[in-house]
Amino acid sequence: EKQGFKHFMLKEIYEQPGVVRACLDAYFNADWNVGDSTNSPVKLGLPEEIYANLEQIQIVACGTSWHAALVGKYLIEQLAGIPTQVHYASEYRYAPSPLTPNTLTIGVTQSGETADTLAALAMEKERRQDKEPKYQARLLGITNRPESTLGHMVSQIINTLAGIEIGVAATKTFIAQLMAFYALALDLAYLRNSISSIKLQEIIDGLRQIPGEIEATLEKQEDSIGQLAHEFAETQDFIFLGRGINFPIALEGALKLKEISYIHAEGYPAGEMKHGPIALLDAKVPVVAIAMPGSVYEKVISNAQEAKARDSRLIGVTPLSQGEAAEIFNDFIPVSKVDELLSPILTVIPLQLLAYHIAALRGLDVDQPRNLAKSVTVE
Ligand code: F6R
Repeated sequence: EKQGFKHFMLKEIYEQPGVVRACLDAYFNADWNVGDSTNSPVKLGLPEEIYANLEQIQIVACGTSWHAALVGKYLIEQLAGIPTQVHYASEYRYAPSPLTPNTLTIGVTQSGETADTLAALAMEKERRQDKEPKYQARLLGITNRPESTLGHMVSQIINTLAGIEIGVAATKTFIAQLMAFYALALDLAYLRNSISSIKLQEIIDGLRQIPGEIEATLEKQEDSIGQLAHEFAETQDFIFLGRGINFPIALEGALKLKEISYIHAEGYPAGEMKHGPIALLDAKVPVVAIAMPGSVYEKVISNAQEAKARDSRLIGVTPLSQGEAAEIFNDFIPVSKVDELLSPILTVIPLQLLAYHIAALRGLDVDQPRNLAKSVTVE
């Protein structure tokens, strides 16, 4: 069943271009173009009640799904202009925010069975029950398993279409959750007219290029990332830096590494390093910096250079040319230059591969890491 791959995780990493294509086909209208005023570009099929008078969005999730939600917040706020909060489900269920009207609550869970996420949604539904109409719960689930408990609990679902994921470390289901958020944010942006049709078309055209870009990254970079992994066989701590829409990807890169390789890793928004964590850095602590062109590019580069000045080995995930990258980074993993808003789908790929290869080199049980379960059905 592993189809020649050594582990399910690697097989699932390689399934990601196909997952993005499935989501593109399902969520986006291939016939839509800028001049089209009769059709909508996004076809999520969500009813009017979900969107009507929407003032706020809150998202509850755990782990990797929480990281997808953070990217989702960025997309919804920047594209559709709707204030959005992201909560750890395990925290929110015991300390919910004050009730706000016309609020959409989204639960993100690939398994649809995560106890804390389900409990947070149930709590939200309950406390809104006897309230006036504008306070009534509107619940949307983003899941890879519509047949799950979540599927029965919420009235609307976005099915992430990733196919069953066997590796405990989430990879293709994360990419699929990102796709669901692109579709949702663009649907909202279209309905609220918050971005121009030209920008909308540009982003959708860019999304259509992503499967090919992921394929190119896998094809060209897997061997070199496998080689690079040898350098870190004995490493005990790692730092991942990103800013803006790539900050959640720094968190995800760190989580992937810790859960399967058992190396201590932290993801930080690069600008926060000087407020404490920079004290951790020395030659024994490598730093992975996600440096994609866009609003925070120069800032990330200068934060990364501060790390290098503390003797950290600096690994860049960046579209810079070999020559340019060599001036800044000790090692670099090239990715294509894409619109900043789309970059998380691409930058996460080398981080998944890096975590995978380090764990595999250490001879660890990549698909079944210690102390972890695929579905966390207990609190
Ligand atoms: C990390 C991982 C976990 C899950 C978390 C939530 O690779 O798999 O962090 O993301 O347990 O799971 P779901 O999405 O099923 O609610």
